[in-house]
Amino acid sequence: MKSMKLPSVPKAESNVTATVDVSGRRSFLRSLGLGALLAGLAGQLIAMVRALVPNVLYEPPRAFKVGLPQDFAEGMTYVEDHRLFIGRDQRGLFAISAICTHLGCTVKMLNLNQPRTVEIKGKPVQIQQEFQCPCHGSKYYGDGTNYAGPAPRPLDWYRLEVSPDDGQLVVNSSQPVHHDFRLNA
Ligand code: FES
Repeated sequence: MKSMKLPSVPKAESNVTATVDVSGRRSFLRSLGLGALLAGLAGQLIAMVRALVPNVLYEPPRAFKVGLPQDFAEGMTYVEDHRLFIGRDQRGLFAISAICTHLGCTVKMLNLNQPRTVEIKGKPVQIQQEFQCPCHGSKYYGDGTNYAGPAPRPLDWYRLEVSPDDGQLVVNSSQPVHHDFRLNA
């Protein structure tokens, strides 16, 4: 039997293929590196621009008008929009938050059938109302002092002022005041 001789591949040709392969891989790796560098730079640029823009929290204003003083009769008036009570007694006007100090539910006011005398900070105080929280049962006397349930502290009292523009009552919820606060208006 006669043996057939296969044509041999020229040596130079195989070197060309190897060179093309290596240079193709190199250019791919170069592109990958460049891409990663650009992505990193873009990330840093975005972070820098983001740092220049202030974080804005759209919270409700802390000072707001609730109506004219004469709109509030003796006793407690609930102002639903702002979750607070405006009270009036012989000494003047005051504002008590209706936000439970436990976890922030809205407390309900309960008018007592007859005034009750309780001891608050060692002093006898006559109360006509109580506040009760429907969520976990905290109870507060009419002046906001907590006396039962998980509420850790009394309801907040806010500063009241009369607006020089239109004579309306302005509640400033950023300025808590003592329970003795009254606005004569
Ligand atoms: S939120 Fe009022 S008692 Fe829990």
